Amino acid sequence: MEKGIFIKTLKGEKTERPPVWFMRQAGRVLPSYLEMRKQYSFKELMRDPELAAKVTLLPVYDLGVDAAILFSDILVIPEAMGMELTFTDSGPRFATALKDLDDPMSLINPDATKLEYIYDVIDKIQETKPADFPLIGFCGAPFTTLCYMVQGLGTNHTFPDAVSLLYKDRKLAKQLLGAITELSIEYALNQVKHGIAAFQIFETHAGLIPADLYMELIMPFVRKISAAVMQTGTPTIFLPKGLGTGLKQLQPGDADFISVDWQVPIKEAREMIPADMGVQGNLDPRILFANQEVIEAKLQEYLSFGAEEDKWIFNVGHGFVPGIPVENAKFVVDWIKSANWNS
Ligand code: CP3
Repeated sequence: MEKGIFIKTLKGEKTERPPVWFMRQAGRVLPSYLEMRKQYSFKELMRDPELAAKVTLLPVYDLGVDAAILFSDILVIPEAMGMELTFTDSGPRFATALKDLDDPMSLINPDATKLEYIYDVIDKIQETKPADFPLIGFCGAPFTTLCYMVQGLGTNHTFPDAVSLLYKDRKLAKQLLGAITELSIEYALNQVKHGIAAFQIFETHAGLIPADLYMELIMPFVRKISAAVMQTGTPTIFLPKGLGTGLKQLQPGDADFISVDWQVPIKEAREMIPADMGVQGNLDPRILFANQEVIEAKLQEYLSFGAEEDKWIFNVGHGFVPGIPVENAKFVVDWIKSANWNS
């Protein structure tokens, strides 16, 4: 196991090959996870330190990835802000959506102690993982978190009420984004205290709004979180899914690495993102439904990019989706590890 490869790459050191891990690598495709889900609910798995640590490490052993990501969810932040959350078969659901309230701020009552169980999970992972193996911590970015809080459901992926709030009541939107940001910073810094090796900020829904609006209104909040983490010396990765040509407006202080979605060819994204920043991505996870010849042909397209680019972490362009055959995920890891990246 090449333990150092993920951190070396994040720090800009040259390695033999790109490191590889996958977003949603634990909780989607592994038979070992699906087996545990028969016995426990998602909440039980993520709240019990023994179980959550076990799930976090499943892909390390079952797939051979170069990093583990904390088994939790981005919606723990709204939950700790006082919103009652359940995970149903059709996705997350809040008991009360902010869109249904006259005074949404009245529901917001941040209590950082409600996140403490997650630090117990991190401690347990640190205790049980292979020595020096990197654990990635994470939080949702403020806009994506706001989308779920306003809409109340995870099933309507266009989040119409959250988007219109940005135009209807900018002051309220900023108040909410500010409250999310403040708690997220405390949460991130506590994850750092508990020894995470890197931190990823998930902005899954950046593509719902124009890139200019994203950069003007949302990015200052993201920057506050990444700056706080970067100041500790912990490498930071930002996933702005759907940002498109907005990638050109990113600046080196925004994160150490940018996780690129599958909409933009990786070479074009590389040209848009400042050279000082690294890139992560960006295989379409759904290609894993194809046969291995098709998958391999796609992976080969990355060879020339990988030969030239040291600051690149191989990943998917968005999380694994249910139903992907696990052997195809393993095939990708094995291929990345055995390909010749020096020619
Ligand atoms: O490998 C991992 O699973 C790592 C842990 C992880 C989860 N969620 C566990 C989870 C991470 C990093 C997340 C992030 C997350 N959660 C995001 C950002 C990344 C992305 O993929 O867009 C978002 C938008 C959420 C919100 C969320 N949580 C949704 C929309 C859902 C339901 C649909 C779905 O994606 O499964 C969840 C539930 C959730 N979070 C599950 C898992 C394993 C499914 C729970 C289950 O039934 O087993």
